[in-house]
This record gives sequence, structure tokens and C-alpha cells, in this order.
Amino acid sequence: MYVLGIETSCDETSAAVIKDGTQLLSNIVASQDELHEPYGGVVPELASRCHIEKIESIVDLSLEKASISLEDINGIAVTSGPGLVGSLVVGLSYAKALSYAKKIPFYGVNHLEAHLHAIFLEKKIEYPFIGLLVSGGHTSLYDIRGVGNYTLLGSTVDDACGEAFDKVAKILGLGYPGGRKIDEIAKKGNAKAILFPRPRLKEDDLNFSFSGLKTAVLNYCQKLGKSLSEVERNDIAASFQETVVETLLQKSLKALEKMQYPKLVIAGGVAANSRLRAAFQHMSKEKNIELFIPSLKLCTDNAAMVGALGYHYLVAGQKAPFSLNAYATTSSSQASF
Ligand SMILES: Nc1ncnc2c1ncn2[C@@H]1O[C@H](COP(=O)(O)OP(=O)(O)OP(=O)(O)O)[C@@H](O)[C@H]1O
Ligand SMILES: [Mg+2]
Repeated sequence: MYVLGIETSCDETSAAVIKDGTQLLSNIVASQDELHEPYGGVVPELASRCHIEKIESIVDLSLEKASISLEDINGIAVTSGPGLVGSLVVGLSYAKALSYAKKIPFYGVNHLEAHLHAIFLEKKIEYPFIGLLVSGGHTSLYDIRGVGNYTLLGSTVDDACGEAFDKVAKILGLGYPGGRKIDEIAKKGNAKAILFPRPRLKEDDLNFSFSGLKTAVLNYCQKLGKSLSEVERNDIAASFQETVVETLLQKSLKALEKMQYPKLVIAGGVAANSRLRAAFQHMSKEKNIELFIPSLKLCTDNAAMVGALGYHYLVAGQKAPFSLNAYATTSSSQASF
């Protein structure tokens, strides 16, 4: 079965072709980073206009790269939420139009559920496992027992960790998007130089908090009261990053212990962070935990994960009605996730 995946939830226009749920035939991702950089963050109106300009050529390119035509496609999986509604409707409307014109069933995929299933394009994993989602808009731990069978164990009570990376990058004058830049300069810094508060680590629950940490970085920089030297900037980035990674690590261990599962999957853009990857690898060896993190291209937004997850719903005969709407947050949606 060939599935065309379409993803336009934020500032990446992406299309992919997946064969039989796991074989990646193409995965085209057009980033809008340059467009939003001057504003220091995603401008929703610009994002949706850019998706409109690119969607047709990106879908065409994904089919071309996969060496198949639309006639060969058996199902379309498209992100219907959560995300920026103005961006989501571009992909969703395009999927509906293709579905109507070519009589191909389509299915609306939850973006977070897709992130957590990206790993299945690279690895075969038996359920159940703990899923740690670390992205630009979310930081959550899930008990994952199958497709569509999830229990939320904990999540951030304020900022997402990706958001904290982006905001701290802004404080340090690194520009947008900041996560990757912090990762880069932190390699030259001393992670023990500054002891920032470890948010919610003492709390027994599985929730996170990153807003206080971001404020602590801001206060630290303001106290220095001058423009930062390269060494100071690198040390702040490294110390901040270490605090985030340590928090994610401790809470993940708590979740693994609570559920008595020996498997952990990490997903979302922050899973691309090199320090996070190294720290979790180390922990997995020490604690005998099976660890799964997708390759870098499958951590940030992409349509491959949408197609791979959508396959399971489409193959089960599920299809969305043309009345399906985009939704901004999971709680405001009809989604089961
Ligand atoms: N190497 C890295 N280190 C730290 N953070 C990173 C790295 N690469 C990307 N990020 C962060 O990942 C985030 C983007 O991830 P992703 O594309 O999954 O988020 P999103 O789609 O905007 O949010 P969501 O999936 O919650 O809707 C950004 O906050 C970015 O700074
Ligand atoms: Mg995402």
C-alpha cells in the first residue's frame, strides 16, 4: 500500500511517500526558517502564505522522487492538528482536493502521535514503551501501548522545552530557530559553569516546567550587565542545555520505573540535540534500557512520520469525511490522541 503523507502544521511544507507503512520512498521538507528569521519566530500569516506557494511543487517532487504517480497512491495521510490553523488548512485542503479528484481515501493524523511513531520508519519496536515527546510546542511523557492507545503520564505546566531553547537562544542573541544554535555553541562551553535551577526535579510527579529556567537565564545575563563574551555565551548555553537534559532524563527514568517498562522512545525536534542523545545513550547502557531515537531528519517536522502513522488507520479502512477541520490544540480536537 502506498501512502502519500502531507505535513504543514507549522513552518515546514513537507510531503512523503511511504510503502507498506515503513518503507520510505521519499521525504521532501521545505523549511521556512529564512522567512521567519528576521522576526525571531514564526509569523503565522507568512507561514500559511508560504505553504500555499509551495504545497503543489512539494507534493509533485515527493511523487517524482518515489518514482510513482498519483494513480498509484492508495491513501493520503495529512496532519489535521495540533498546530497553526492557517498552516494546517493548506495541507488539509490540498489533501481533500486530491482525495476528491482522484477518489483516494484520506485520513487526518495527529501531529504529536506522528512524532512518536517516526521511529517505526527505522526500527521495529514491540509495544508497550514510554514515549518522551520533546518538541517546539510540547514536552510530555506517554505510556504507549499501540497505535491509538496512549495514556498521558505528565507534561509541561508552562513552556515546552523546544520553546525554552528558542527563547534562551533569543536572549543570547543567536537568532531563530535557536535550538540547533545552542546545541552548536554548547559544545565549546562548560556545562558546569553555572548552576541553574532544576525545574520540578524534586516533585514526585511526571510534569515538567521550563519557564523558570528561561527566566533564570535572563536574570543571569542581566546581572552580568554587559554584552556577553563568546566564552560566557558558550558557558550559559552549555549550562542551560545540561539542565534541560538532566530534567528530561530524571523524569523519563521515573516514568520507566513507574510503568516497569524497559523501553524508551524519544521524539520531536529537541531529540535532535546532541547532548540529549549522548546523555540518554549513556543512561540506557547504565540502566539496561532499550533506547530508540529517530535519525535527525525524522526528529523535526516531516511528512514521512505522518504517512507512516496514517498507514495504520488507512489500512484498517478508516477515512476522514470532507467536513474534517484543522484544530489548534489536541484538547480542542475530536482526536483520540
Ligand atoms: N539540535 C537541537 N537542539 C535543541 N533543540 C532543537 C535542536 N534542533 C531543533 N530543536 C528544536 O526543536 C523545535 C522544533 O521541533 P518540532 O519541529 O518537533 O516542533 P514543532 O513542530 O514546532 O512543535 P510541535 O511538534 O510541538 O507542534 C524547535 O524548538 C527547535 O529549536
Ligand atoms: Mg512538530
